[in-house]
Amino acid sequence: MKTPIHVINPVLLFLLVACLSADQSTAVAQQLLQGFVATPDPTAEDFQPILTDSTGNFSLSFLRVNQHQLALAIVHVPSGVPLWQAGRVGQLARWGKPTQLIFNGSLVITDSRSGVFWSTKTDGDRVVLTSEPNLQILKGHDARNSLASTLWQSFDFPSDTLVENQNFSSAMRLVSSNGLYAMRLGPDFIGLYAKFMPGGLDEVQIYYRHRALEAKAQIIEGHGPILVRISSDGFLGMYQNTSVPADIQTFNSYQRPVPGPRRVRIESDGNLKGYYWSGSSWALDYQLIAETCDLPSPCGPYGLCTPGEGCSCLDNRTQIHTSGCYPSQTEPGDLCEGKRSKSRVLRRTGVELPFKDLMLSTETASYEECEKACDMNCTCWGAVYNNASGKCYTVDYPIQTILGAGDESKLGYFKVWEGPGKKKMDMSLGIGVVGFGGYKLWKRKSRVNSRYLEEDEIVAPGPYKDLGSSSFGSIELSSR
Ligand SMILES: *[C@@H]1O[C@H](CO)[C@@H](O)[C@H](O)[C@H]1NC(C)=O
Ligand SMILES: *[C@@H]1O[C@H](CO)[C@@H](O)[C@H](O)[C@H]1NC(C)=O
Ligand SMILES: *[C@@H]1O[C@H](CO)[C@@H](O)[C@H](O)[C@H]1NC(C)=O
Ligand SMILES: *[C@@H]1O[C@H](CO)[C@@H](O)[C@H](O)[C@H]1NC(C)=O
Ligand SMILES: *[C@@H]1O[C@H](CO)[C@@H](O)[C@H](O)[C@H]1NC(C)=O
Ligand SMILES: *[C@@H]1O[C@H](CO)[C@@H](O)[C@H](O)[C@H]1NC(C)=O
Ligand SMILES: *[C@@H]1O[C@H](CO)[C@@H](O)[C@H](O)[C@H]1NC(C)=O
Repeated sequence: MKTPIHVINPVLLFLLVACLSADQSTAVAQQLLQGFVATPDPTAEDFQPILTDSTGNFSLSFLRVNQHQLALAIVHVPSGVPLWQAGRVGQLARWGKPTQLIFNGSLVITDSRSGVFWSTKTDGDRVVLTSEPNLQILKGHDARNSLASTLWQSFDFPSDTLVENQNFSSAMRLVSSNGLYAMRLGPDFIGLYAKFMPGGLDEVQIYYRHRALEAKAQIIEGHGPILVRISSDGFLGMYQNTSVPADIQTFNSYQRPVPGPRRVRIESDGNLKGYYWSGSSWALDYQLIAETCDLPSPCGPYGLCTPGEGCSCLDNRTQIHTSGCYPSQTEPGDLCEGKRSKSRVLRRTGVELPFKDLMLSTETASYEECEKACDMNCTCWGAVYNNASGKCYTVDYPIQTILGAGDESKLGYFKVWEGPGKKKMDMSLGIGVVGFGGYKLWKRKSRVNSRYLEEDEIVAPGPYKDLGSSSFGSIELSSR
């Protein structure tokens, strides 16, 4: 019997395509000229190189994100780690036919259905990737680039990573890939900031500040902004307008040559970490925040981080390992929505705010006064009082991880948003809290409570009854 031709054809076709794409990947362009168009290859797994640097160690690529999405990224080829990404966090094109990368003077990502995703808005002649790696759009056709002028470069628009010799200025910010944390420069410091308000536009809460030590050079007001740069000598230097650093933060590999490139990245947990490529893996070389409990929200919302002990929940009837501590299915809503939002109160002793030195405080005569100030103000999510100093700290975003202080004179008052009533909510949502160590949101409140009941049959589930207003010895819950 004759084999029908249309059965063989797809196999041949597949082989042909496989050969072609293998061929393409070994000969990636070293520059892009006007008229260039690239589309995502459905068979590419992690990333699809488009433009390579002269060493072949870096490439501008389509990077596959969440299986079906596409980011234009500079990738370290041996590891597949992106060092730069086009556009803002959360805005990704689809890995599919409608998506195109074109160069028409501007480097543009378009989607034939939804239009321009991202554009450099330039009028250049060529696109090259330097071995630093820095993506540049050049004007002028000089082969050695010496007469060409740079119209645009990725160094000026960092995403979450800095590489060696890249100048990070006070006009820039590094943003973690989950969009929650950012590094920015102040007049004489490196600041790390968090976006704790859901839907908030900016990272407003500072959680770490490293001031320049100014051992070798002073930072002088009025002598210009500072900048930060990774030195090939293995440190993160802070400079004003001289080549002498006003501050250096040394890496483990300080003054030692390393086999591959160095990079510093703001991580999804809010830490700032440095790495170098060892030839086979990225070696951790530096971290700004050494203690887990000093991270901005290591145990997730409504978690409690106790140095030496780790994570638990502010509400100790909740167990962190079964789910996160946040007792709602959705992101916390607006407490100022009046009758439409429902909340309850959680009190706990022996707690303090993380990075309280960076938070504003007022002095009140008593804990009750501190609590009252927060209670009456719907933009206030919680207050922590230090009975010894009389300092009252208020929090104006949904409560994140609080520190366990082991000092009973530190008292906390926290509002818990319970949603717009107990109407129907999609129980299958189960959104993971990205960036908080992957804790899942609390999906099944009653399940957790009944599990708790099984383990300890003394305490009944549901809100605690009145424990006496003078006692803060345990958590009080009251529905409001
Ligand atoms: C690529 O990087 C490795 C180190 O990671 C280095 O040894 C090698 O020389 C680089 N390749 C080129 C062509 O520069
Ligand atoms: C390049 O293409 C984009 C998207 O189609 C378009 O908006 C832009 O005007 C073009 N630029 C030039 C210089 O043609
Ligand atoms: C970084 O800044 C320094 C000093 O301001 C300058 O000399 C150097 O060329 C800059 N490097 C890059 C890559 O722009
Ligand atoms: C750079 O610093 C010098 C002294 O260190 C100062 O005189 C000068 O004004 C500074 N330049 C700028 C642009 O601020
Ligand atoms: C309410 O709290 C916010 C910060 O949480 C504060 O800025 C504001 O002044 C407070 N309003 C009143 C009336 O105290
Ligand atoms: C707070 O301090 C006052 C006096 O300074 C003391 O009487 C009171 O017992 C303290 N309360 C707590 C909870 O430590
Ligand atoms: C919860 O904490 C209170 C004190 O804050 C304590 O009395 C109670 O035993 C704790 N419950 C559990 C189950 O650990």
